[in-house]
Amino acid sequence: MKVFITRKLPEVAKDLLNKNGIDVKVFPHNRIITREELIKNAKDADGIIALLTEKYDKEMIDQLSKCKIIANYAVGFNNIDIDYATKKGIVITNTPNVLSDATAEIAVSLLLSCARRIPEGETFMREGKFGGWEPGLFKGIQVTGKTFGIVGAGRIGQATARKLKGFGGKIIYFSKSKKPEFEEELGAKKVSLNKLMKTADFISLHLPLNKNTKQILTKEKLELMKPNAVLINTARGEIIDEKYLIKMLKKKRIFSAGFDVYENEPIINKELLKLENVVLLPHIGSATLETRNNMAVLVAKNVINVLKGKKPITPV
Ligand code: DGY
Repeated sequence: MKVFITRKLPEVAKDLLNKNGIDVKVFPHNRIITREELIKNAKDADGIIALLTEKYDKEMIDQLSKCKIIANYAVGFNNIDIDYATKKGIVITNTPNVLSDATAEIAVSLLLSCARRIPEGETFMREGKFGGWEPGLFKGIQVTGKTFGIVGAGRIGQATARKLKGFGGKIIYFSKSKKPEFEEELGAKKVSLNKLMKTADFISLHLPLNKNTKQILTKEKLELMKPNAVLINTARGEIIDEKYLIKMLKKKRIFSAGFDVYENEPIINKELLKLENVVLLPHIGSATLETRNNMAVLVAKNVINVLKGKKPITPV
């Protein structure tokens, strides 16, 4: 059995696969693999450990004649044509649960950074501009006691709400289905997306990207936000009308926005880079030592199970 890993991951993935008698080939370069390189390396693999920076569309899947499993090293799986892969008998797995807290931590970090203007203050210090305490220096928005709007109350949305609950205030959420346990635990209230956009002081996005959620935050929805609202996106860039949000930020129509994800990753809209009222991170939601290790263990276990004819642990 042969498994191809498309980029260097924590060694534990390779070790686990090897211990189970599986040969592993890891793409040797520290960069995104090209489509041609992927086809060349993966076409005779029984399993692939994949990244969200690769696209597994019909054309790619048709090249993977021996492949039984694509184990995505991510919870999101919008980079894979699931229906087509399933039709071709390929199992798709992802990495839920293990990254919920890490991603929630980044959502809260962005929220605090935006509200309290932390990156601006830090840059100011490094530039040697601090001339002593000032009454008007970097006034931000208070977080304590505010209304937090969670868009998409799945595992990561709920983990984020749990952390935000520490600031007091109210949790409202938008979700396809009601979440009674979440409501009971945090006193969260389900509302329509319009109501959430209109009433939340802080909005944190946690929807998966699919045909129903692509650009779900249209300009009309974005325009519902309060003048001092803060919008945080740690989900996927394509769920927002990014160009319109940038226009709003330019006009200071909302207080600020925090991005960990972008519409055309890794290409970043140049306009974003010029704005002061944004905080920009390089898609690091799950980037902790612990989480990336746990993700590596999970992808490896999924592959081992499927190649041994057993059920995957976290099938999509
Ligand atoms: C995911 O898992 O989908 C994140 O975006 C990357 O960890």
